[in-house]
Amino acid sequence: MDSSLLSLSKNQMMKIELYLSERKLLIEQALERLIPKADGTFSDLIKAMRYSLFVGGKRVRPILCLAAAEALSQEKNLIETLLPTACALECIHTYSLIHDDLPAMDNDELRRGKPTNHKVHGEAAAILAGDGLLTYGFELLSNPENVLSAERRLKICHLIAQASGPTGMVGGQALDIANENKTFPFELLQTIHRSKTGALISCSIQVGAVAAGASTEQEKDLLRYGSLLGLAFQIVDDLLDATATTEQLGKTAGSDKKHGKATYPKYFGIEKTKDIALETVAAAKESLASFDHKAAPLREIADYIYSRTC
Ligand code: IPE
Ligand code: IPE
Ligand code: MG
Ligand code: MG
Ligand code: MG
Repeated sequence: MDSSLLSLSKNQMMKIELYLSERKLLIEQALERLIPKADGTFSDLIKAMRYSLFVGGKRVRPILCLAAAEALSQEKNLIETLLPTACALECIHTYSLIHDDLPAMDNDELRRGKPTNHKVHGEAAAILAGDGLLTYGFELLSNPENVLSAERRLKICHLIAQASGPTGMVGGQALDIANENKTFPFELLQTIHRSKTGALISCSIQVGAVAAGASTEQEKDLLRYGSLLGLAFQIVDDLLDATATTEQLGKTAGSDKKHGKATYPKYFGIEKTKDIALETVAAAKESLASFDHKAAPLREIADYIYSRTC
């Protein structure tokens, strides 16, 4: 497939970059408000949690959550209402990164352009910072002050627990680690990618849809979009690990090869992997066929995920 078909025009790129940077700011302001301050009795732990949370990051999952809700409704307070939920997704994702980098996992030294959590705070503190972020995410989600209805809150908690847990992200991470330096059928590679990364991305979109009161049909379409986008996200992550520089990524390039990870480039080579990523993103966008202009950000985020450089 011709990669120019989906590459963003300069104008489009400027528009989506502006949208992403505005949304990133909104989320970071909300995180600053919602995450405990590093003072008092638990300050060492909270400092370690805040270190990884505020050191950088594209904030893709919370942005997708908000964009999915906006694709359905432009109700005035929707974004404000959804911010604690979006922030919870970022807390849970950041926990997954801290644990992913630990010596017993991918043993990486650089994350979001800075030394990894365990390099700065020590291994025990990094494990606990991850635990703290995971649990705090659910504290945000279940907080009765969270203005979403109790019914929607419960459904959202359940979806996020499923996507992060043993048949979602954690399950995928377990398969990823257990299959280092092994050869196995492509189907397992796809399962690893869908679970370790795809599940939380897909869930972020579904959560936005639930919060905005999606119909069963709309939720089904967004679920398909999310599942394809989540897979594409990890395929591009594999590609970048093999082709980009450490400086560009803010994490050590070539880490996958060094650790014998199963990746799309290892199975298909670079060029074919690019084609697969492009096709997956195109299919994700097709799932939005029945949505109107309000889904424009979701469409452009899909293109961005293919053409991103970090
Ligand atoms: C990296 O995620 C880990 C994967 C699941 C592939 P991101 O690429 O979203 O990392 P940040 O949040 O921007 O640092
Ligand atoms: C990890 O995948 C996905 C997570 C659940 C964190 P990777 O191990 O490829 O992520 P990076 O490349 O270290 O960000
Ligand atoms: Mg990993
Ligand atoms: Mg890793
Ligand atoms: Mg990677």
